[in-house]
Order: sequence, then structure tokens, then C-alpha cells
Amino acid sequence: MIKRIFDWLRQPLGLVAVGIAFLALFSLAAYGIYYTQQPPAQPIQFPHKTHVAFGIQCLYCHPGAERGPSPGLPSTAKCWACHQQIAKTQTSLLLAPLVESVRTGVPVQWVPVAQVPDFVQYNHRPHIAAGLNCEDCHGDLTKMTIYENPQVMNMGWCLNCHKEKSAGNPELETKLLDCGTCHY
Ligand code: HEC
Ligand code: HEC
Ligand code: HEC
Ligand code: HEC
Ligand code: HEC
Repeated sequence: MIKRIFDWLRQPLGLVAVGIAFLALFSLAAYGIYYTQQPPAQPIQFPHKTHVAFGIQCLYCHPGAERGPSPGLPSTAKCWACHQQIAKTQTSLLLAPLVESVRTGVPVQWVPVAQVPDFVQYNHRPHIAAGLNCEDCHGDLTKMTIYENPQVMNMGWCLNCHKEKSAGNPELETKLLDCGTCHY
């Protein structure tokens, strides 16, 4: 019986079946990764494009990107510094959760989207110091409302860029591709 199955698998039709089974498994795995990195519902549909179009810098709201590992998200106080002076704030349904946060003192519960697992050491500072721009990794925020990852932030993504940036520089290549650079 088993031998007959193997014989059949070696036939052209069998090979096609194996191919289909493999593709199905692969797309299931790819979908799993994609699905876990889909943007979740946010407490406020914060329009990045509107704010970026006003000329507000990324670093004004995410100042940690230059200084250390994580950029951080703006506090209610930072939003309020502008919004208490904007007439629309009191009537906008979109801004009702911000007004509520000011009233109660409970911070807005943003849901993280750009994230790598805890066993990965990622730090913004060396990347910004190396001259990379936010959009190289986060996409074009002038077109986004709430943030969505433009690509899956997995190990292949990190390594592809590290290979590209260190090509022709063996010392840098050793550093950027060493497992211990990102896992320790
Ligand atoms: C530097 C000033 C500034 C800061 C800081 C700021 N905003 Fe705004 N925001 C604006 C302006 C200006 C508008 C456009 C208002 C209009 O359309 O009349 C706006 C619009 C919005 C809107 C759309 C409102 C609507 O009904 O269309 C939302 C939602 C919003 N902001 C949320 C926030 C949140 C949340 C924060 C903090 C994370 C924040 N803003 C920080 C200036 C700012
Ligand atoms: C080389 C790629 C890269 C560049 C360039 C980059 N980021 Fe990130 N960013 C990441 C990764 C990876 C994460 C997830 C980090 C984690 O889970 O600790 C992240 C997370 C974030 C977060 C989530 C909140 C937080 O504190 O972790 C914000 C906000 C952010 N980045 C903003 C920025 C801004 C603003 C810039 C430009 C000044 C920037 N990033 C440049 C890769 C990058
Ligand atoms: C007025 C404040 C403001 C400005 C300016 C701003 N952001 Fe944000 N950003 C936010 C808020 C609020 C969130 C949380 C809601 C969301 O995920 O969209 C956020 C979320 C993010 C995230 C995902 C954070 C996470 O927790 O995973 C990234 C990445 C990011 N911003 C990058 C940028 C970049 C790059 C720029 C400049 C092009 C920028 N932002 C400009 C307020 C701002
Ligand atoms: C778009 C390109 C790009 C991407 C994507 C990227 N990196 Fe980098 N990374 C760089 C560059 C450039 C440097 C700085 C190299 C130098 O020192 O000149 C760097 C440096 C680092 C360093 C510091 C190495 C040291 O010891 O100085 C770490 C750690 C690091 N990256 C981790 C990551 C991780 C983890 C990811 C994925 C989540 C990632 N990087 C994604 C380009 C990238
Ligand atoms: C430039 C940064 C970087 C380097 C260098 C790196 N990794 Fe990773 N690694 C990551 C990131 C980001 C993840 C988490 C995302 C994922 O699962 O792909 C990860 C995940 C992993 C995982 C878990 C996989 C899983 O499916 O959960 C293992 C195991 C691993 N790495 C081993 C290694 C080994 C071994 C090396 C050296 C040959 C290495 N890594 C080098 C960034 C890096």
C-alpha cells in the first residue's frame, strides 16, 4: 500500500498534488504571520496623514527614536497642548476618547503594531545614527490614518537590509549578521 502511494507520488499528477499540498501549507503559514501583524482596532482613529501634512515632525510625537531603543507614543497632555485650542475638539466624535482621557486622567490605550518579540534586541538609535529614515522601515505615513506595518518585521527583513548595507565591508558584515547582535 505505502509503496503504491510513493509510486503514485512520483507520477506527474502525484508531483502536482505534492506541490499543491506544499503551497497550501506555505500560504497558511504566511497568512498566520500576516494575520498576527494586521492593524488592530485603535481607541482613536488617529490620522497620521493630517498631522504630518501640518508639518508636525515624527520626532515631536515619537522623540525616543533618536535617543534610545524605543520612540514611544505621545501622552494625552501632548495631544491636548494643541487640541484644547482647536474648536472642533469639543464636537468631534473622533476626538471624544481624547476629551474623556483628559477628564478622567486615564491614558489612551493605544495598541502596539510595530513590534518584534522580546527575544530580539532592536534599538532605534544606531539606525537613525546610520542615516536611515523612518519611512525606510515604517512606510509612507503621509498616506496612513492609524499605523500599519508596510512589511512583516521578521528576521529575514532585518537580515536582508543588514546584508545590503554591509556589502563589501567584511568587518561590518560580521557585526550585522552575527546572531549575538540581535539575540542575547
Ligand atoms: C501640533 C498640534 C497637534 C498635535 C500635537 C495633535 N494634533 Fe490632532 N489635529 C491637529 C489639527 C490642526 C487637526 C485638524 C483640525 C481640523 O480639521 O480642524 C487635528 C486633527 C485631529 C483629528 C481629526 C479630528 C476630526 O474630527 O477630523 C484627530 C482624531 C486628532 N487630531 C487626534 C490627535 C491625537 C490623538 C493627538 C495626540 C496623539 C493629536 N491629535 C495631536 C493638531 C494637532
Ligand atoms: C531600521 C528600521 C527602522 C527605522 C529606520 C525606524 N524604525 Fe521604528 N521600529 C522599527 C522596529 C523593528 C520596531 C519594533 C521595535 C520593538 O518591538 O521593540 C519599531 C517600533 C517603532 C514604534 C513603536 C513604539 C515604540 O516605542 O516601540 C514607533 C512609534 C516607531 N518605531 C517610530 C519610528 C520613527 C518616528 C522613526 C524615525 C525617526 C523610526 N521609527 C525609524 C524599525 C525602524
Ligand atoms: C501628532 C502626533 C504624531 C505624529 C506627528 C506622528 N505620529 Fe506616529 N503615532 C502617533 C499615535 C497617537 C500613534 C498610535 C496610533 C497608531 O498606531 O496609529 C502612532 C503610532 C505610530 C507607529 C506605530 C506604533 C506602535 O505602537 O506600534 C509608528 C511606527 C509611527 N507612529 C511612526 C510615525 C512616523 C514615521 C511619523 C512621521 C512621518 C509619525 N509617526 C508621526 C502620533 C504621531
Ligand atoms: C533598512 C535597513 C535595516 C533594517 C530593516 C534593519 N536594520 Fe539594523 N542596522 C542597519 C544599519 C545601517 C545599522 C548600522 C550599521 C553601522 O554601524 O554602521 C544597523 C545596526 C543594527 C544594530 C546595532 C549593531 C551594533 O552592534 O552596532 C542592531 C542590534 C540591529 N541593527 C538590529 C536590527 C534588527 C533586530 C532589525 C529587524 C527587526 C533590524 N536591525 C533591521 C540597517 C537596518
Ligand atoms: C539583524 C537581526 C537578527 C540577526 C542577526 C539574527 N536574528 Fe534571529 N530573529 C530576528 C528577529 C527580528 C526574529 C523574530 C521574528 C521572526 O520570527 O522572524 C528572530 C527570530 C529568531 C528565532 C525564532 C524563530 C521563530 O520562528 O520563532 C530563532 C531560532 C533565531 N532568530 C535564530 C537566529 C540565529 C541562529 C541567528 C544567527 C545565524 C540569528 N537568529 C540572527 C533577528 C535577527
